[in-house]
Amino acid sequence: MRKPIIAGNWKMNMSRDEAINFMYQVSEELPSIDLVDSVICAQAPMMRCLIKRQGENLRIGAQNLYWEDAGAFTGELSGKLLKDYKVDYVIIGHSERRSYFGETDETVNKKIFAALRNELLPIVCVGEQLEERESNKTNDVLTKQVKGAFKDVKAIDMEKIVIAYEPVWAIGTGKTATAEQAEESCAFIRGLVKELYGDVVADEIRIQYGGSVKPANIDEIISKENIDGALIGGASLKADMFIEMVKAAVK
Ligand code: PGA
Repeated sequence: MRKPIIAGNWKMNMSRDEAINFMYQVSEELPSIDLVDSVICAQAPMMRCLIKRQGENLRIGAQNLYWEDAGAFTGELSGKLLKDYKVDYVIIGHSERRSYFGETDETVNKKIFAALRNELLPIVCVGEQLEERESNKTNDVLTKQVKGAFKDVKAIDMEKIVIAYEPVWAIGTGKTATAEQAEESCAFIRGLVKELYGDVVADEIRIQYGGSVKPANIDEIISKENIDGALIGGASLKADMFIEMVKAAVK
């Protein structure tokens, strides 16, 4: 039985006051971490203030990291420093990073190693563009992204990894993949993990769906066999919606 994981990706949103307010609202309301992993991934300068207020049932994540731990890399974010600040998760290879900041399967792979080395739990994003889906290339794209991301990653480390299937055309567009499309691609990704690592790792790895998830559609999405949670952008900015979606994952 895989424990569900609901992660909010705040992207470049929320002021300090809004974030503190959010923390007050969610602190007593989130279900136990024994039942569901609840995570908020925020901008780096906010980490400290969130970690101070996170309570027992919420974990904090970053949205990116660099693949070196220290050195002359102006503007980058060190996994070692994130760990010092008691950050638990880090999103790697989000489609916005891939499209606007030139991330590739190779950089995603290096970042996964940096996260693991620093005991951060990677949420690794994969997903196809609209033209790729329309020209029936979804599975080819997912195969390339999954094989590239996990190149040389050991089976033992795969238990720390969460994969987020996020079709790019469904992110921030209000256009959710149907639960069937989401399930089909998550099952395909699980199959790839099986091919690479065997049955046990494939059965245990958690795969989230992301792309316009909201309270109105989360039940259907996470009822699917191969979907173990959600990575949520817009709808994670409101405390009441976030609480509702985490609770839906426990049902
Ligand atoms: P969205 O974003 O829920 O606003 O579509 C999801 C994501 O980018 O992770």
